[in-house]
Amino acid sequence: MKDVSHHLVIVANRLPVDRVELADGSHTWRTSPGGLVTAIEPVMRHGDGVWIGWPGGVDVDVEPFTDNDMDLVPISMSAEDIEGFYEGFSNGTLWPIYHDLVAKPEFHREWWDSYVAVNQRFAEKAAEAADEGATVWVHDYQLQLVPQMLRTLRPDLRIGFYLHIPFPPAELFQQLPWRRQILEGLLGADLVGFQLPGAAQNFIRLVRQRVGHKTHRDLVYLPDGRTVRAAAFPISIDAAGLEELARSESVAARAAEIREALGNPRRVFLGIDRLDYTKGIYARLRAFGELLEEGHFDVEDAVFVQVAVPSREQVEQYRLLRDEIDRLVGRINGDHGRIGSPAISYLHSSYPREEMAALYRAADVMVVTPYRDGMNLVAKEYVACRYEGDGALVLSEFAGAAEELRQAWLVNPYDINGMKSALLEAYGADERERTRRMRAMRRQVTQHDVKAWAESFMTELADVGTHEKDVRPA
Ligand code: G6P
Repeated sequence: MKDVSHHLVIVANRLPVDRVELADGSHTWRTSPGGLVTAIEPVMRHGDGVWIGWPGGVDVDVEPFTDNDMDLVPISMSAEDIEGFYEGFSNGTLWPIYHDLVAKPEFHREWWDSYVAVNQRFAEKAAEAADEGATVWVHDYQLQLVPQMLRTLRPDLRIGFYLHIPFPPAELFQQLPWRRQILEGLLGADLVGFQLPGAAQNFIRLVRQRVGHKTHRDLVYLPDGRTVRAAAFPISIDAAGLEELARSESVAARAAEIREALGNPRRVFLGIDRLDYTKGIYARLRAFGELLEEGHFDVEDAVFVQVAVPSREQVEQYRLLRDEIDRLVGRINGDHGRIGSPAISYLHSSYPREEMAALYRAADVMVVTPYRDGMNLVAKEYVACRYEGDGALVLSEFAGAAEELRQAWLVNPYDINGMKSALLEAYGADERERTRRMRAMRRQVTQHDVKAWAESFMTELADVGTHEKDVRPA
């Protein structure tokens, strides 16, 4: 690494690379799962900051290193940290509460203690890495206490926080026994960013009601004279970079190979998700299975490719989901597949960017049907790869992306019949209709890319508290 202290420090639970143990006891690095890394990585590559995070695995004690031009500072986690902080409080308590209670959250005091202790460690590492007056950008629900802890250690810093997932309505947030501590943790930041305006409003309302601070529009006035702003910054992708990859000859050749291997059906449906109960994978496959059952098409007309990236496999609800989907896929393929042509090609694996781009190019209908999702970058990635202006997107109303991609076939994933109609419409839509919708979505995605997102967050962050209007009214 070039130097020990930095002017920009990114703090996220995960580093962009994940250390994976191989069967022979050796290890390798691969890209970490999830939308957060997809979004932040291109921002970091063009800057000279440092990224602090967990490299994955138990007790992985590695020195700071450089990967792909990024300076990375690993934070090691013990088996207890993983159980209490990561699988427990972050993914067994916060994740379901912040996603509309799609699964039942659990509340355990030991999990909370572990969350506090690990957040403190992240704050201390960030305090060590930051230059005098530096900017620290903290990310996501795993680290909501870091802003406050860091401010106590280093009042000279400019601190931003961004939540990549939804922020729940007050009625749900209030169930958290530690609701006040979390709000106070976030208020350590100068700017708290959310995907959607409604989330920022939920936060401001909770701060007023639960912490008792004075608020006005998107501002919170703290008793010590500091101002905190809460606002929406809808996240995006490196649209130009992905389009360039999609246009490459090797990706075109691979896309043709994929279609060939699928038996050259008239239409290829595609789903790409982390294997998570918020994503609505089961419901969408059921809808597809029923369309086959009712004879709307057969496997020569349409097949479904579902990529399910392994995720949080030690958490009970994720294991149950995997079994349910395995059973459903087995049943649909047993009923409707033919030799060499399964109805659903189900891949429980993660793939490099090139393969994803080839899948997006090979797919006629992209199906993104979460019950609740902060943004969903897969929807935007599909649009970015369709440079010929063709292809159809079926998108849940409950994904943040639906606020921007209005020309998708929007669906309510709880309504199986509604979803079946949308799948059929997208399947049968004529070229004019598909291109009309896709062109409009492409304008949105190319004009609002991840670079614009990061710049607008950084500009606002530099700005908070510098205006007359930010000063608490008498
Ligand atoms: C979502 C979250 C990220 C998280 C990712 C992968 O995108 O917003 O914070 O890193 O999922 O989940 P994991 O638990 O594997 O880090």
